Amino acid sequence: MLNNKVCFITGSSSGIGWAAAKLFAENGATIILNGRNAEKLEANINTLKTINPNNHSMFVGDVTNNTFLKETYQTIFKNYKRLDVLVNNAGILNDALIGMIPEDMVDLTIATNQKAVIFNLQYAAKLMQRNKAGSIINISSIIGRNGNIGQLVYSSTKSAVIGITYSAAKELAKSNIRVNAVAPGFINTDMIKKLPQEKFEQLKNSIGMGRIGEAEDVAKTILFLASDLSSYVTGQIIGVDGGMLI
Ligand code: NAI
Repeated sequence: MLNNKVCFITGSSSGIGWAAAKLFAENGATIILNGRNAEKLEANINTLKTINPNNHSMFVGDVTNNTFLKETYQTIFKNYKRLDVLVNNAGILNDALIGMIPEDMVDLTIATNQKAVIFNLQYAAKLMQRNKAGSIINISSIIGRNGNIGQLVYSSTKSAVIGITYSAAKELAKSNIRVNAVAPGFINTDMIKKLPQEKFEQLKNSIGMGRIGEAEDVAKTILFLASDLSSYVTGQIIGVDGGMLI
């Protein structure tokens, strides 16, 4: 489904990003990984090589560092001469009730979940415009649509991702670049492991299908949006939440 496609996935050492990388590779893609832990990424590259023999590579660095991002895209162009898919996945979650929100938490969450999404999208679109084709998938959240107690900061950035998706889809449609977002519900990754038990139970009990989602559940929808199966789909926010009510 993704034969000959070069796909960059931010925050792909674990969770949803890594699940998408594996599924993309199973579908013939060449994968460019990103994360801050070189060892983990190297192990992931070795796993990808067992899935398909393409020229997979990795960029170790922090997506909040704009110089790192700029250089990453310059090297992607140098090495591959193209970019077909960007999954804007790297993200962080920190809870704080109103009255207890520290400034550094706001700055870091916005830098990671919002600002880095904008710059990744901007650099990726520049590369994609050369081929007049591409698919950008931003990872939002059900919390960005519905909000949640203690998650004002996180939800502000995930709502921003929805606005970014709508605007970019309008602006880039003429270049045949599609921009969509996935809004996962409650997914079994490292991110939810640090939630307090009470909140964990509350969120789990709100899922209509009665089970927490797996990273692979989300990866399948990301694959749909990355591939030509969704060739006429742009500017959409697709929930992957098992009927979660929040
Ligand atoms: P995760 O914690 O396993 O993955 C996030 C990845 O982003 C990690 O590999 C982390 O190292 C990386 N990352 C974080 N900050 C980074 C930075 N500054 N530079 C480079 N990499 C960075 O968690 P998960 O669940 O796979 O998260 C992926 C995306 O899905 C996030 O954007 C998250 O907000 C979103 N999401 C997750 C949900 C869940 O229930 N797990 C629900 C809704 C959305």
